[in-house]
Amino acid sequence: MKVISTPLAMRAWTDWVKKKNQSVGFVPTMGALHAGHASLISRAKKENDKVVVSVFVNPAQFGPHEDFSRYPRPFKEDQKLCASLGVDALYHPSPENIYPQGYRSFVNVEGLSDLWCGRFRPGHFRGVATVVLKLLQTVSPDRAYFGEKDYQQLMIIRRMARDLNLPQRIVGCLTLREKDGLAMSSRNQYLSSIERAQAAILYRSLNRAAKKIKSGEAVLRALSSARREILSIPQSKIDYIALIDGESLEEIQTPRPGARIISAIWIGKTRLIDNVELGTVPIS
Ligand code: PAJ
Repeated sequence: MKVISTPLAMRAWTDWVKKKNQSVGFVPTMGALHAGHASLISRAKKENDKVVVSVFVNPAQFGPHEDFSRYPRPFKEDQKLCASLGVDALYHPSPENIYPQGYRSFVNVEGLSDLWCGRFRPGHFRGVATVVLKLLQTVSPDRAYFGEKDYQQLMIIRRMARDLNLPQRIVGCLTLREKDGLAMSSRNQYLSSIERAQAAILYRSLNRAAKKIKSGEAVLRALSSARREILSIPQSKIDYIALIDGESLEEIQTPRPGARIISAIWIGKTRLIDNVELGTVPIS
């Protein structure tokens, strides 16, 4: 596996692969890789001749009081995992490689970026869209893989790709979960063992609300019970919980195809996000 740290070398690598008429799949990440990331990488391996993974903790998508400096950076372990999964190139640029002195250009996917997480993390999606566009320009893959776990992020990137005529296919991948349902996330390691046990409430209550809505219960009522269940955890706080249209991300009051319940909550000092699609909720 080649480890590449500059945009120039990254582009040269892809040019070399393309000359051989091989396809490139790309999985952008911020590292601290877990089985959720691995599932994206495995899918990319299946669908492409070569796979690139990027590890870059993007300063532009963190607010001034967020966890940028304490975000985990176990690069050696990430490198080992990527090698074991058969990744061909690991792109690991420095912040100066991505945002050199005098950097001034940012991408704003209007509207979509101001909703939900965007309301609580101003500037977050501007940072995400900017770095993803820059990574796509440099790596220049045929397909890029993103998790549904960050559903709003996935939809913003899809919109950007359409609006800016990006040639890449944006592939959405299912959320990988722990045994108790908690969505895998690099931030789960911030949770104490007690908080970790409590965190399963998020998926469980979203799932229960989805089942209730599917069986005809009023949306408001189903979401109120979910809210109550979550708030029964000490030190918990809800940023939002809502039923949304899966494309426009606008809040809706009645279920429709593609609708999702999305949520962001805090347990202690850790922010967790998750979402479930109404259509795929198992009925039991
Ligand atoms: P990061 O949180 O490292 O996630 C990288 C990719 O892995 C994202 O597409 C995310 O949705 C996906 N992912 C995370 N947890 C997952 C899970 N449990 N199941 C399936 N996929 C999962 O998202 C980012 O980094 C950054 O914002 C990035 C897109 C790299 C831009 O900086």
